[in-house]
Amino acid sequence: MFKITTIPGDGIGQEVMKPTLEILETLNAKFDFIPQEAGKECYKKNGTNLPIETINSCKESDSTLFGAVTSIPEQKSAIVTLRRELDLYINQRPIKSYNNLDINFTIIRENSEGLYSHLEEDNGDEAIAIRKITYKGSERICKYAFDYATKIKKEKVTAAHKANVLPLTDGVFKSSFYKVAESYPNIKANDYYIDAMAMYLITNPAQFDVIVTTNLFGDILSDQGGGLLGSLGLIPSANIGEDNGLFEPVHGSAPDIAGQNKANPIAMVLSGCLMLEFLGLEDDAKKIQNVIEDIIHEEKIKTPDLGGNNNTQDMCDEIIRKL
Ligand code: NAI
Ligand code: MG
Repeated sequence: MFKITTIPGDGIGQEVMKPTLEILETLNAKFDFIPQEAGKECYKKNGTNLPIETINSCKESDSTLFGAVTSIPEQKSAIVTLRRELDLYINQRPIKSYNNLDINFTIIRENSEGLYSHLEEDNGDEAIAIRKITYKGSERICKYAFDYATKIKKEKVTAAHKANVLPLTDGVFKSSFYKVAESYPNIKANDYYIDAMAMYLITNPAQFDVIVTTNLFGDILSDQGGGLLGSLGLIPSANIGEDNGLFEPVHGSAPDIAGQNKANPIAMVLSGCLMLEFLGLEDDAKKIQNVIEDIIHEEKIKTPDLGGNNNTQDMCDEIIRKL
């Protein structure tokens, strides 16, 4: 029995969590789902967007499934705080198209520092955010990227940075990347400035296997990946540390479509698959991934983001029927 904390959060986070749990419950593996709160609605009710019970529950569970939260200016980001509290320094985001073979790469985003360190202040005349990049943080994320490339038998790891304008901070990241690369002679290592990278992702995505980058750049590139695939509703992510994992779609709470039963649940369901892999249930993960691949190929059931008229539950029902 796996103990799983579930945090649906706000907006479509709620709507995509429900079908994901339904799908996981059809598997032979047994899960004890522990629902917890976070986000804007939680703040209105409890005066905090991230109660201590939620953090403790995540720490005590085998894994956490997270939907999405609506951010609020009064509080620090719930998801960024959770990633830090659980020391989930890796954010792994596979961008895989089921229709276009040229698009199949994984973004490894540094998840614990950079511009997400919550080091920001307003001095009255000016506001300053500190972008903290450490050798330790850079080396451990680059090492993970090369290990991951080795594991999935990919040929190349590409670093994205802006060391021409940020020679100190991104200098640390770039030099750490090439230092780590020396230990992996069988894997090609190259780097691009983040702006050029944004272009190559569109003009020549086939060249990428594994991309490793700092926190904000990884955040931006992964939504661009959503654009490449045609919808953010297709991209899952894994937040991983030494002994814990939190799995969430790349998208947010999508207030523009919330409450309409329109959200594509695939990103959340695929995040559940990344959790299954993390728990050692690779066969179950593969089964669900294959079913989703089939559904996307068949184009029979399509939520509005994919150009169809089906709703969230239709997609869930079709996945369960095929399973
Ligand atoms: P968003 O990711 O919620 O939505 C961007 C666009 O993609 C919208 O047009 C939305 O309708 C569409 N979209 C997203 N997921 C979809 C799905 N599953 N199916 C179909 N269409 C989908 O980003 P946005 O609008 O910038 O942010 C909304 C709120 O979410 C904000 O409060 C933001 O801070 C928060 N947010 C939370 C995240 C998290 O909890 N990890 C991540 C990103 C944003
Ligand atoms: Mg984002």
